[in-house]
Amino acid sequence: MILGIESTAHTFGIGVVEKGKILCNVKDSYTTEKGGIVPMDAAKHHKEVCDNVFDTALKEAGISEKDINAIAISNAPGLAPCLIEGMKFAKNKALGLSVPLIPVNHCVAHLEIGRLTGANDSVLLYASGANTQIIAYAGGKYRVFGETLDIGVGNFIDNFARFAGIGFPGGLKIQKLAEKSENYIELPYKLKGMDVAFSGILTKLRQMVESRRYRIEDLAYSLQETVFAMLVESAERALAHTGKKELLLGGGVACNTRLQEMCKIMCEERGAKFFVPSNEFLVDNPAMIAYLGEIMFDKGLGVSGKEIDKLDINPRERTDDVEVRWR
Ligand code: ATP
Ligand code: FE2
Repeated sequence: MILGIESTAHTFGIGVVEKGKILCNVKDSYTTEKGGIVPMDAAKHHKEVCDNVFDTALKEAGISEKDINAIAISNAPGLAPCLIEGMKFAKNKALGLSVPLIPVNHCVAHLEIGRLTGANDSVLLYASGANTQIIAYAGGKYRVFGETLDIGVGNFIDNFARFAGIGFPGGLKIQKLAEKSENYIELPYKLKGMDVAFSGILTKLRQMVESRRYRIEDLAYSLQETVFAMLVESAERALAHTGKKELLLGGGVACNTRLQEMCKIMCEERGAKFFVPSNEFLVDNPAMIAYLGEIMFDKGLGVSGKEIDKLDINPRERTDDVEVRWR
């Protein structure tokens, strides 16, 4: 049994996996009234809740400490104070239980958890708050074929929601508003090769809101149609470029039913398979850390004994820096 710990940003969570089966996925997230995340406060939150989350996770999984064969920890990428808190907790447990510690890259875990849904060799459209990347395995690595040149698509949506007075987080609320409109208002379309950019569109939307000449439903609809089309076009290019036949969605924005629909249509048109995990495994979650941790553990990856203390966090590790030794 592998216990996985997630603590790269606002969520502290612990999941347990056995032979690819998720036994629990327990989370406690730091939230703020206004939305912006203060890294030190999030870290403090993690420190406060970690023991409780651990006890709840064992209870939900129906196991005891001695059933744990290894501990997986998301050591990259993310906010340093949060990563440090998670690493401290993970090291203590691994040393206390005398089990190996396995460092897992958070972005790669978003991709690997797709195997639960049957995805095997897919292009991943990873659309979350802070990240927007088109990733696929090629030549021994997970490569980033396209990514945002400025902010993540979720942060873009949340920003719009904030200045439109809709509240935080904005994703689901924007989706609901968009469902009430079919009036497309043209917005800038920012796709360069397979890279996307959102800040110019955000500026344009801000001006439109401030002019008070547009219905918020129409802006929400147009926003979704425009930026999701950019993402889907980029993903389609990556499919064509790599010759892969599967598209997988990941990240909190992937909960959006319109984005899912657009991906599905694109895949049907080009004879590709489309996979989308349930929402629980799209947003940041510890089960995906345990899940990839188990795959790595089975290949003998991870550190034990004295090496555990030397394991470090890696706040800026990129997806294509990860040595993929488990495939
Ligand atoms: P990461 O560290 O991977 O970047 P994150 O914490 O920034 O993760 P997630 O937890 O993966 O992000 O997702 C949060 C984002 O998802 C928020 O920006 C939120 O607005 C967005 N979101 C959630 N549901 C929807 C939805 N239905 N439509 C669009 N966006 C959504
Ligand atoms: Fe994430």
